[in-house]
Amino acid sequence: MKPSAYYRGKEQTYVKHFFLEQYLETVAFHIGYTHKEFVYVDCFSGPWRADDEELADTSIRIALDRLNYVRDGLAKQGRAPNIRAVFVEKSPTAFAALEHALVQHRHFITTVAFPGTFEENIPRILDAVGAAFAFYFIDPKGWTGFDMDDIRPILLHQPGEVMVNFMYDFINRFLNFPSPANEASLDRCFGTTRWREIRDDPDREAASVGLYMEQLRRTGQFTYVTSTRILKPLHDRAYFHLIYATRNPKGIIKFRDVEKRVVAAQDHVRNDAQRDNREQRSGQTELHFGEPLTPSDTVQAARSAKLKKAAAKIDELLRPGPLPYEVLQPLILELPLVWNTDLNKILVDKQKQGLIIIDGLGPRERTPKQGCTIRRTTNTLYPSDTEDLR
Ligand SMILES: C[S@@+](CC[C@H](N)C(=O)[O-])C[C@H]1O[C@@H](n2cnc3c(N)ncnc32)[C@H](O)[C@@H]1O
Repeated sequence: MKPSAYYRGKEQTYVKHFFLEQYLETVAFHIGYTHKEFVYVDCFSGPWRADDEELADTSIRIALDRLNYVRDGLAKQGRAPNIRAVFVEKSPTAFAALEHALVQHRHFITTVAFPGTFEENIPRILDAVGAAFAFYFIDPKGWTGFDMDDIRPILLHQPGEVMVNFMYDFINRFLNFPSPANEASLDRCFGTTRWREIRDDPDREAASVGLYMEQLRRTGQFTYVTSTRILKPLHDRAYFHLIYATRNPKGIIKFRDVEKRVVAAQDHVRNDAQRDNREQRSGQTELHFGEPLTPSDTVQAARSAKLKKAAAKIDELLRPGPLPYEVLQPLILELPLVWNTDLNKILVDKQKQGLIIIDGLGPRERTPKQGCTIRRTTNTLYPSDTEDLR
């Protein structure tokens, strides 16, 4: 993909593309190594607002480059899975550019492009996917065109997983817009009328993302659903959330690994965007001391809140009885900004405090791992227990 400087003024798109590139590579390598087929489906493919003639700043080119790279890498390891990419685009002009890009770009994966809307193409998409593992990327412009009931067959496809760009900033502006047509379209997007209840929620953002995730989990019968928050370049507010649903615990672990890299990249581009903005307003060039080595205050504050939640969730999950580490791990890593090193540190700290026991560690081992069992010590009062007693 193009370097971050190329995305000036649309830094949130850089972060989205960085995430897509990193996650797609990870999942395609993993599935390509273990399965015979892998299909990537770009359900709202564009090209859209591309500044590069060769479309290097679009999800189309990013996917073609990455999948081709994965194919070559797997070939070196003696694997030759059938890797395919399916693209869907409604606008005739954009579709013509998409078709042109697929012909021009030198790649060795099988591609197919469907004109028209994502929803009307669902039977054709499912046909093209067949029995393969599919990763669906749903990247709309707003909240229409992917009604929960309509995309049910896509969500239910197995083996498969989905990443949805939940346009929170946009949706939020319409949650209180009193129009029957607007309300009906939000009913269809969420697949429930319950979004009305979140309008007065003090944390409306968490409530709406949470409701959408719950609906996705239920409709697609997913085991794990998580999200990552993409911020506005110049303000400490969400632009959108990338919501990810899978049935595979490894998917959650990989998604969080990618998030860790993306958070650093996001800090970097936002830092630059904010400096440019200050310079433009003041007319003064600022001294540039290189990239900060620590996460921004925004990230640190968000992470410490999530880490507290992780500690409480561990207590709650262990309350009914011991759990294997590999069961606990994806359930904790469903929390945004909680990374595997965090989980292990929380567990080790809790063990030091005498709150839990990690069974299955070798004599010199400190870090929990697959095969370990985690249990609470008896006669210990936990913060969450105290809340229950009140
Ligand atoms: C946000 S842009 C996609 C950007 C692209 N995924 C990327 O990251 O480079 C959304 C695209 O979906 C197209 N579109 C809008 N409604 C659609 C629908 N119902 N079905 C399929 N495509 C649609 C638009 O024309 C636009 O090109």
